[in-house]
Amino acid sequence: MRPTSPALALLVAAALSGGACVPALAAETSMPARDPHSYGRPDEVAVEHLSLDLTVGFDQRRLQGKATLRLAHHGTAGDLHLDSRDLAIRRVTLDDGGAARFAMGPADPLLGSDLTVAVTPTTKSVTIEYETSPDAAALQWLDPEQTAGKKLPFLYTQSQAILARTWVPCQDSPGVRMTYDATVHVPPGLLALMSAENPTAPSADGVYRFRMEQPIPSYLLALAVGDLRFRAVGPNTGVYAEPATIDAAAAELRDMPSMMTAAETLYGKYRWGRYDVLVLPPSFPFGGMENPRLTFATPTILAGDRSLVSLVAHELAHSWSGNLVTNATWNDFWLNEGFTNYFELRIMEAVFGREYSEMLAALSMTTLRQEVATLGEKDPSTHLYQNLTGKNPDDGVGAIAYDKGYFFVRKIEETVGREQWDAFLRGYFSDFAFQTMTTARFLEELDRRLLAGHPEWKAALAAELWVHGPGIPANVPIVRATAFEVVERAAKAFTTGTPAAKLATAGWNTHQWIHFLESLPAALQPAQLADLADAFHFEKSNFEVREKWLEVAIANRWEPAFGEIERFLTTQGRRKFLKPIYTALMEFPAGRELATRVYAKARPGYHAVSRDTIDKIVGFRSDQGGAAPPPKPAS
Ligand code: BES
Ligand code: ZN
Repeated sequence: MRPTSPALALLVAAALSGGACVPALAAETSMPARDPHSYGRPDEVAVEHLSLDLTVGFDQRRLQGKATLRLAHHGTAGDLHLDSRDLAIRRVTLDDGGAARFAMGPADPLLGSDLTVAVTPTTKSVTIEYETSPDAAALQWLDPEQTAGKKLPFLYTQSQAILARTWVPCQDSPGVRMTYDATVHVPPGLLALMSAENPTAPSADGVYRFRMEQPIPSYLLALAVGDLRFRAVGPNTGVYAEPATIDAAAAELRDMPSMMTAAETLYGKYRWGRYDVLVLPPSFPFGGMENPRLTFATPTILAGDRSLVSLVAHELAHSWSGNLVTNATWNDFWLNEGFTNYFELRIMEAVFGREYSEMLAALSMTTLRQEVATLGEKDPSTHLYQNLTGKNPDDGVGAIAYDKGYFFVRKIEETVGREQWDAFLRGYFSDFAFQTMTTARFLEELDRRLLAGHPEWKAALAAELWVHGPGIPANVPIVRATAFEVVERAAKAFTTGTPAAKLATAGWNTHQWIHFLESLPAALQPAQLADLADAFHFEKSNFEVREKWLEVAIANRWEPAFGEIERFLTTQGRRKFLKPIYTALMEFPAGRELATRVYAKARPGYHAVSRDTIDKIVGFRSDQGGAAPPPKPAS
């Protein structure tokens, strides 16, 4: 075994993937620097195919079974290094079934343990028999009461960013791709779904077989088990949801086929076969997760009027930006999300028109300005390229990658012209399909394929400043959201004394309401808040509007909203909605009291991803003694 310590590997990776002064390496796509969030050494031995055989035990809250990993050796003889976190390894065998030597490194709370298996250059596969922990961070086990149907339990996974290792021993890095197949055993009557070819009805024996033939990174491994139905929405697209939700889901998402047509027209053929959406129970910690062939989505997008369907455009867009061309490490996360936000808005523009997509762009600008103000306009956390070594990549999920990323990509479009940019992207998605991409390599491609020969474009774009510089660059694109002009007039009128009921709000859509709430002055009188509440009944709006309204109410410490806040925090677990509310409540004594009381009650219903974030905000400490198991010496 090589003596390189994980700490040393991290240092090497950090140095290799450094800042603006490091020249781009031509060979970077094929041989990226080691991922600071993975123990894997894919440059020595890489996993190229995964075969899972898992039994889903709702009673013990465990997955139990085996993972067979097919290996690709890259010259240098070395052991196989895998990521694992909270997994109980029962047995490890090689090709012929003979027992393998293996060792577990010390357990890092964030990265888990390096599971090292002794292999030789002729070892074709390694089989690991294992069991997950009831606390596996990727998994949420829901009691029947936490589902819409209230009769049957539910399980779903969330692997991004580095949680796949809590349910599958693997090289848990976006820079490693593998194909997979799986056999999953569930209690009869429940349907199992994965980020793979999926069934549309329950099997009689509760056994399901899956295949994913395109190579994917581990963060796209996904499994859901529950009382689920399927409904087609067009020839190649459909929705899965609980029986109580399936009608609403199918109606809400009926634009999926036109979104698919728009996406393919823009950037080339969809490469994954079918595209379906699974609408999960309300504790799902994200809006959406782009699991290949099967986006996982929050039910909070079911607004009844299709006003929140841009989320589906976003996850669909990831089928190109992210799933096809993948960020090499989480430091390059903006490549996934910034491109996807741009692609999302292009789909929305194609389906709903420019006036519509400009509303989304304007909201993105507001979010970005707020985030930069919070982080500080000179702060390195506002750079697109991040150095997340030693940090939880999940904590870095915010407006910078998404919204600053969006505006940078839009700036490229506006600099070189849409026609040229679209042609570049079509080539980029096809040339780098099923490969990883680093920030440096992207900038190099941009230079080589587009900017070379146009020094004026290069100067106007100032790409280095966007990627390795702080804040919002001065050349940021200008958004023209004409549908927001009437909203800004109304906000102004309200501020200068017009009663809420007299404002010209008829026919406003969700985005206009959000913009209205974001355009109000920071300080409002109790009478003004009561006037807004009475006139507009925000408690009856969709979750996005309610969240913005509650932010306004909390910023003004308006206690009549407390009941509504409690309901909001206890009926869904989407981190984007929980975080600003809990954060704002912690600013004043009555709010802190409410936050602490509600969190104690709501916490068991949230997914680990949301719990992790909110624990820090409200200062919650779980009484588990906090001690990690003592490190075992490597054999
Ligand atoms: N891939 C992300 C979700 C994610 C990011 C999970 C990082 C874990 C770590 C997904 O595509 C996403 O961006 N979801 C957004 C929706 C959106 C429309 C911006 C969300 O969940 O809010
Ligand atoms: Zn995304």
